[in-house]
Formats: sequence, structure tokens, C-alpha cells
Amino acid sequence: MGYFKKNGFLPFSEPFIGEEELKAVKRVFKRNWFTTGPEVNEFEKEFAAYTNSKIAIAVNSATAALHISLASLKTGDKDDIMAPPFTFVSTINTIVETGAYPVLIDIDTDDYGISPDKIEEEIDKNYIKKGEFFYHKKRRNRLKGIIAVHYGGQPAKIDKLNEIAKKHNMKIIEDAAHAIGSKIGDKKIGDSDNFVCFSFYSNKNMTTGEGGMVTTNNSNMEKILRMYSLHGIDKQAYSRLKREGLPYYDVKLLGFKYNMMDMSAAIGREQLKKIEKLNEKRDVLARLYEKSLSEIEEIRITHLKKNIRSSRHLFTIRLDKRINRDSFIKKLLKKKIQTSIHFIPVHYFSYYKKRFPYKKGDFKNTEDIFDTIVSLPIFPSMEEDDVKTVTYYIKEVLTKL
Ligand SMILES: Cc1ncc(COP(=O)(O)O)c(C=O)c1O
Repeated sequence: MGYFKKNGFLPFSEPFIGEEELKAVKRVFKRNWFTTGPEVNEFEKEFAAYTNSKIAIAVNSATAALHISLASLKTGDKDDIMAPPFTFVSTINTIVETGAYPVLIDIDTDDYGISPDKIEEEIDKNYIKKGEFFYHKKRRNRLKGIIAVHYGGQPAKIDKLNEIAKKHNMKIIEDAAHAIGSKIGDKKIGDSDNFVCFSFYSNKNMTTGEGGMVTTNNSNMEKILRMYSLHGIDKQAYSRLKREGLPYYDVKLLGFKYNMMDMSAAIGREQLKKIEKLNEKRDVLARLYEKSLSEIEEIRITHLKKNIRSSRHLFTIRLDKRINRDSFIKKLLKKKIQTSIHFIPVHYFSYYKKRFPYKKGDFKNTEDIFDTIVSLPIFPSMEEDDVKTVTYYIKEVLTKL
């Protein structure tokens, strides 16, 4: 029996969490050590092994991961960072919080990731090279980097972006909030010299309640990332049993309070054991959706690119322009099926409208996709029957719109 038949409704997303996670939390209670400690240390090692990365640094959100990545590159108010407007707002908020200028660049329609061609157009038009770096002609800011978002688990065009970054002496940060377990060819997202930022928020493919991780193969950056995650201090707090020397410490830079708790890490370690199975289940559900929705005329599905594996964090459809998306969402909700929208473009938010010159019409692909996109329920405890139920009600709702 599917989730819908059992529960009488279908949420957009639900964590897959059980007795193993509860047992792990009990272990932390028994140890009576709740802040960053042995569970976090092990979780970092296990996550690095899973992503084939050299370094993994656990923090309390992907937002924190993005923020310490930017800070570690010494991003400040003399810098420009490029990023897509089709993302969760925290991708862009973190840029603004460092004082840097967010240069929004439209996405491509094949993977909904930042467009390498549009980045190059923007550089050719508005930046000039002086010495080793490129500078904005008017703002005079240095073009420091790009944040690429792996939308819904589908990897952005990271090889091309790495090439552009090399040519222009820029850094890349990957927003992999959706992309745990995604691959390009045989290479896991996370296995990179870039900073790669993961999310363990409650609706993500694996969760720690709230949580995040930065991975990188650039071992030189480990120390600075760690310091930014904990007040700028270069010592770990877990020293209760093997305290060495006197309790002095130094603060070397202006860091944040972004460390992960052991309780979260204990949950994360159990979730990590399950992630491949959870992603496989998502893939089965996504394939069933693709098959069952393909015959509906008013719906378009974005197919995955070749040579990639998606974590299938989101399953999105695009409605025919003549369909009223809001009525569609409301009518499905009346049938007890919850959907969502990923994402409201960042330049539509009032804060961004007030502070930056971006306006409606500036990012055609983002805006066209936003106008017609809907994210359907997808989570591991759904069954084939649920995909059938969603398809059935979509068909019914569409006949009445
Ligand atoms: C693309 C993207 N980036 C970043 C985040 C932020 O993640 P967190 O809630 O872990 O800070 C999210 C969260 O939904 C996201 O979807």
C-alpha cells in the first residue's frame, strides 16, 4: 500500500529516519557530550570517504558551508561573485553577507544550472584584465568566483565552469545542497578542488535535522575553513578526556559559530549508511513519474543529461503556459497532494529589488521556467502506487482547469 492510501495525504517531502538514528542519538546521550566531538569527527571521515574527497568539514547548514567557503577565499566588498538567480535565496544571501556584489547570471534550460556561455558574455562585456585578475569596468571589483548550483541533483556544467575559472583566475564554490550522491561520469559531486557545500536540512536526501558539510581536495584550505566555522579559533572543543596543556587558545580571524553538534552527526552517520538505497528509491520513483506523466499533453519533463547520475532530490514538471499554475497547485492540495515551487527567482524578492538593479525581464530562462515549474512529491517512503495516485489526480485536475 502506498503512502497516500495509508495516510490519506501525500506531503511534498518527508525525512526517512528510524530506529538506527534513535539508537545513535541515545549513544550521544550516554556519552553526555553534545557539542562537536567524536561523532562529528567520524561523520566527517565517513562523508569524505563517501564523496571521495580529501577533506570534509561539518557545519550546521549548507548556508554556513557557503558562508565559510566565501570567507575562506577572503571574499569582501571589493569582490564580485557570480551565481544564478534560480536558487534558494541563501546561495545569494551569503555572497551579500560577505560584502561582495552578487552578479546574477541566467541558467541554461537543459540542466537549470548557471550558463557558462552567459558567464563568458558577461565577462567580455563588463570586465577587464589588470595584472592577474579581471575587474568590473565600473564597480572596479575583482571578479573573484562563481557559485554553481547543482539544481535538484542534476550537476551543473562543472567542467566548463572550471575551465572558465582557470582562464580568469577565479574560484568555484559548488552549492551541492541537492546533490548528495550525484555523479558526473564516475566522479562523485564533492570530489573536487573546489569547495563543495552540502545540506542535511530536513527535506534533503539525507538529514541531520539541520546540518551541512564542505568537502574539498584542497588540503591547504582545511585549517582556515575550520577556523571560520568556529569563532576563528584553531582548536577543537572536544578535549574533555585528553586535555593537553593549558586551556589557552588564540583567535586568528573573525569566524562564525557554525559547528555541528554531535547529536546531529550521530544521525548523519546513520543516514549516510542508507543514502545509496534512499537515492536508488528516488530514482525508481522518478523513472515511474517520467513514464506515467509522459502521455499528458500539458506537461513537460526535463530529461537527465547523459553521463550523469542525479540524486533525484527534486522531480519537477513544467506546465503548458495556458495552465494556471496556482489553481493547479491549489486543486492538487484539495486532493491532499502537496507540491512545491523551486525556486522563486532571487531578483523577485523585495530586499533584492530594493538593493540591486536587477529587474523582471533580466533573466529570461529563469523567469520562463519559474512561471511554469512545479515540484512533485518525491521521498523514499513513497511507493509505485503513490506515483499512480499523483498521476491520476494530475490528469483529473487538468481536465477541470
Ligand atoms: C540550492 C540550495 N542551496 C542552499 C540551501 C541551504 O541549505 P541549508 O538549509 O542547509 O542552509 C538550500 C536549502 O534548501 C538549497 O536548496
